[in-house]
Amino acid sequence: MRRDPHSYCDDTQPEIVSLDWQVRVDFETRRLEGAVTLELGAATAAAGPIDLDTRDLEVRRVHVGEVALAWALAAAEPILGARLRVELPAGTQRFTVEYRTTPGASALQWLEPAQTAGGVQPFLFSQCQAIHARSVVPVQDTPRVRVRFTAALDVPVALRGLMAAAFVEREEDDPDSARAIERWHMPQPIPPYLIAFAVGHLRSADVGPRCRVWAEPEVLERAAWEFAGAEAMLEAAEKLFGPYDWERFDILTMPPSFPYGGMENPRLTFLTPTLLAGDRSLVNVVAHELAHSWTGNLVSSASAEHFWLNEGFTVFAERRIVEALAGSEVAIMQAALGRQELDRAVAGFAEHPELTRLHVHLAGVDPDEAFSIVPYEKGYLLLRALEEHVGRARFDGFLREYLGTYRFRSITTDDFTAMVEKLLPGALAAVDSAAWLDGPGVPGNAPVARSARLEAVQRACAAGAAGLDGATTEGWTPVEWGLWLEGAAALDAAACAALDARFGLTAQKNYEIVAAWLRVAIAAGYAPAVERVQSLLGEVGRMKFLRPLYQALARHDVALARRCFERWRSGYHPIAAQVVSGVLAKAAAPAG
Ligand code: BES
Ligand code: ZN
Repeated sequence: MRRDPHSYCDDTQPEIVSLDWQVRVDFETRRLEGAVTLELGAATAAAGPIDLDTRDLEVRRVHVGEVALAWALAAAEPILGARLRVELPAGTQRFTVEYRTTPGASALQWLEPAQTAGGVQPFLFSQCQAIHARSVVPVQDTPRVRVRFTAALDVPVALRGLMAAAFVEREEDDPDSARAIERWHMPQPIPPYLIAFAVGHLRSADVGPRCRVWAEPEVLERAAWEFAGAEAMLEAAEKLFGPYDWERFDILTMPPSFPYGGMENPRLTFLTPTLLAGDRSLVNVVAHELAHSWTGNLVSSASAEHFWLNEGFTVFAERRIVEALAGSEVAIMQAALGRQELDRAVAGFAEHPELTRLHVHLAGVDPDEAFSIVPYEKGYLLLRALEEHVGRARFDGFLREYLGTYRFRSITTDDFTAMVEKLLPGALAAVDSAAWLDGPGVPGNAPVARSARLEAVQRACAAGAAGLDGATTEGWTPVEWGLWLEGAAALDAAACAALDARFGLTAQKNYEIVAAWLRVAIAAGYAPAVERVQSLLGEVGRMKFLRPLYQALARHDVALARRCFERWRSGYHPIAAQVVSGVLAKAAAPAG
């Protein structure tokens, strides 16, 4: 039976428990070439098939020792990729697939030297969540299955090959060799979407006993400064959620085309360089990825249909870390901005309200297309509603028990409700959890963020653009700017010009501020914003910015948005290119 709509994995078949992965990274051909040995939980009692997920892989041979096994690669389906069926003889404990990836592998971005900070060496990285691990390695690519692994990356000797795993060794055989082998080990069982690696000209700086920041040498100093608080965050998180199970919390600062703000790859979080604001104003993303070490990586949602368990819990945990380190006012402001973004996202799903449930049905839906802020912020609000109902002390007790019981397991929404009912009887009914989990939009009993600092911004919103002056905005963080830009009445081009003259928003270096500003200013038809966005869309590949900015640009001038995409597309990660195509296709479709 297939229980995850995004995987060919059949739970009546044997389960893979570990991988031994060995590949040569070839920048010339843009391929990984090698083999993976897949180990089963137990030797097969009888002969039978095992189905693996693949996407655009070229399989050469499947064997056990010297014995070749029969295999068949089915025709590819649009979202899932191609099923690889291997016929396993009775008594099989492990088998090997020899294969290579193709240059268009959906998880991988191969960067030319010109696309890096150094400009001399190429760079390669993976992004496997949600269902892209299958384009890198044949696996049961569902988070329901957890695997350990060992890996050997054969890379050019000038480059480092990093993995989200424990470092074993780097081998440089003879001094004249052009290649090096980097060996890694993941002793904890993880869902396959957490397999991650990067190859590039990378250096590191320690910022704490368990925290090291990696980046290209040109970026390292800024990155190490921006993320210097990682160890303190780790300590705060352990106080809240219990001991950290992954030994190290290192950070890899990605090239600007990285499609996410951050990705919680275990032991080595990947972060966008758009966080390097120079003032540590965006480090809640570090708290977020760190929080996933408990919520997501330790306790994982069993499929993309329960993704809210990962992200809703993680936003909740992120804000608790922020509260512990920066105070509750800051956490409340971030929650208030989250609520505004949630309301906008829900409005944007007017034609697909079913995608605003927490528990979603995604058969036939690409998780990258369904992705939105809804599971993050609506999930957060459900947990806050429960917390308000039972009180913080009891809710913290629940959280500890939830993490302790489900650790290193992959769970569904029903596992969550079962545990709430057991530990906090009556709480689900009291907050009307069915409306949250299976109903659309934001239920009316959602907790509302309140604070003095928030009220000050709300007053500034009410005063409008003309009332905004330097005294009001003094000390404003990107969150205040976001709240104001989202909350103030629609601006016209003249108001934008006046604001821009006063606050230099189009020239802002902080990407959160400039992106929030451009969205509003493009809608107002403010020409300098339309100009700036066209260069910005070539500077960064983070989808949080690409999505709304392409949308705004397309509403303003769809032909211009298309030309812009044609110009920059080759610099985007395949996932981002796919998502932007979708945004533009929708923008071009007739309304209705
Ligand atoms: N795990 C996500 C990124 C992700 C989600 C990748 C779904 C692929 C599919 C990561 O933890 C995340 O949520 N990042 C956010 C950070 C923010 C909410 C603080 C981002 O990228 O902006
Ligand atoms: Zn997340």
